[in-house]
Amino acid sequence: MKLIAPSILSADFSNLATECSQIISMGADWLHVDVMDGHFVPNLTIGPCVVESLRKAVPKAYLDCHLMVTNPEQWLEPFHKAGADMFTFHFEALESNSEKCVQLCQKVKALGMKAGVSIKPKTQVSELSLELLKAVDMLLIMTVEPGFGGQKYMPECSEKCLALKKLRADLLVEVDGGISDKTIAHASGCGIDVFVAGSYVFNAEDRAERIRKLKE
Ligand code: DX5
Ligand code: ZN
Repeated sequence: MKLIAPSILSADFSNLATECSQIISMGADWLHVDVMDGHFVPNLTIGPCVVESLRKAVPKAYLDCHLMVTNPEQWLEPFHKAGADMFTFHFEALESNSEKCVQLCQKVKALGMKAGVSIKPKTQVSELSLELLKAVDMLLIMTVEPGFGGQKYMPECSEKCLALKKLRADLLVEVDGGISDKTIAHASGCGIDVFVAGSYVFNAEDRAERIRKLKE
């Protein structure tokens, strides 16, 4: 199963409901929601109130929330109440401590959300415990430094997926950063299942065509 998850970071925020329903009707599988706190990353974006509005505007959309925040646990309840489907937090935000991440994954799942853990480009697969790989519903590999859309794809990061699948063959792996028609084949060849694409999809005249190209 291969899924396309357009990142609404590159959408028109003044027109978000229309942008989201439009992109879904064009074949997007998930909506990727980039949450930034201005501390874990040098940018400020979306909070739970926006997710709550999106949940109402596009009730059936799968809201794939990527939290680039210093204290993800603080946002667990608010995002659950807002209607998030996937709650992905950063391994590095919990001091790169696998045990702490396992505990947070359990809390995420107890609320009925799916638990994702994201790793930045410099974090290696060997830093993640086997217990953590078993506890997650999804592992998100960053192929750019988190914070901004429109950066250059780092192929060596997608290659971490090969090692991950050796440790757990049925692990769902998502890639985020610099995905386009030129880079998606490489990521797919590494075994990636879910492809986030922000600027490539949203900064185009014909967004439907861009989604079609990614799916090809
Ligand atoms: C970066 C975000 C990404 C970003 C991807 O911190 O996590 O989701 O929006 O944008 P592109 O596809 O333009 O690299
Ligand atoms: Zn993201």
